[in-house]
Amino acid sequence: MSNLIRVSERINRISKSAIHEMTRLSKEIEDVAFLSWAKPTSGTPQHIKDAAIDAIQSDLTGGYTESSGLKALRDEIALKLKRDNNIDANPAQVIVTVGAIEGLAAAVMAVIDPGDEVILPTPTYSTHIRQVDIASGKPVLVPLIEEEDFRLDIDAIKKAITPRTRAILYCSPSNPTGTVFSEDELRQLAAIALEHNLVVITDEAYEYFVFDGHKHFSIASIPEMRKNAISCFTFTKTYAMTGWRVGYLHADEEWIPQISKAHIPFAICAPVVSQYAALAALKGSQDCVSDYREKYLHARNLMCERLDGLSSFFEYKKPGGSYLMFPKILTDEGSHDSASFCKKMLKEAKVSTTPGVAFGSTGEGHLRLSFCVPDEMINTAFDRMEKYLR
Ligand SMILES: Cc1ncc(COP(=O)(O)O)c(C=O)c1O
Repeated sequence: MSNLIRVSERINRISKSAIHEMTRLSKEIEDVAFLSWAKPTSGTPQHIKDAAIDAIQSDLTGGYTESSGLKALRDEIALKLKRDNNIDANPAQVIVTVGAIEGLAAAVMAVIDPGDEVILPTPTYSTHIRQVDIASGKPVLVPLIEEEDFRLDIDAIKKAITPRTRAILYCSPSNPTGTVFSEDELRQLAAIALEHNLVVITDEAYEYFVFDGHKHFSIASIPEMRKNAISCFTFTKTYAMTGWRVGYLHADEEWIPQISKAHIPFAICAPVVSQYAALAALKGSQDCVSDYREKYLHARNLMCERLDGLSSFFEYKKPGGSYLMFPKILTDEGSHDSASFCKKMLKEAKVSTTPGVAFGSTGEGHLRLSFCVPDEMINTAFDRMEKYLR
């Protein structure tokens, strides 16, 4: 980097994103089979797009809304939180955010001071680790128990707590492992948080995509956690609205003005046209959500079947949720250096995957595969992988 540019310590600390690096490399190669994107490939449902067009035509979208979002939308969100998450919510406890990501970033900013520690069960979504870094906090990575379907290691979390620990940040269903943390695990986590007065920041982006009888549980539904939980949600995954950039967070009323102090300088408010689209998403038929869930379940089963055919190269835990999975690489090279493994497979087999090391050091030796793609993409990718690996 040129001497003329002096970059802040906090930005300097952050390494290049392996996910974006793989996306960049993938674009240089023709006819790639993509298993690396964690974004829905279905289009946004028509009734949601129509509502956005109506809002534009009615001239409702040219200005800002309240920074916390349209009241009508927050009313609907509060109803949804009560109905689907069992959270005793009201609209004053909600901020509409620029996707879940901006809500998470604002929450982290509101909770931690420089040097404060945040416990992250890992492997986890790398953006969470970066959000702690950007807030000048210290990410403390506590490994999940892979042998037991990547469940939380409650004892290890207890041991990781120091006088500087301020928060625990997790996503369930998990990116990248697809684990759905059980109610029992999350109740144990809540007990730890209450004992040590920690804030639990949740990313519930994949809340509706759970399979095989797993149930999504929101830690904020535990009444004692009212002041200790900040829960982040999104329209991105549920309604295939990645580019609309709209999500929301829920926290106790006392938190809201404090989190808003970070939300406003980051965003002022969420995109207004997207807020109208989100309102239509919540008020309209929810059939699209169950259709996506069915589709992802079918794709998960196909991916697991294809992985079974490569059992000397990969070992995997069947994901109970999300549309992601995190097989362990059994080859010598891959088990030590997932980045080289993925780059080589991209170049030589034209299959784009994400190296596990992108999800914290505990992810090394794995690769993340996304099954929110059509069957043909999964089959093409695995046909190529089979040929390449054998
Ligand atoms: C766990 C998780 N949280 C958040 C996001 C991004 O959500 P949003 O688009 O709502 O900012 C993703 C996207 O891949 C994700 O996997």
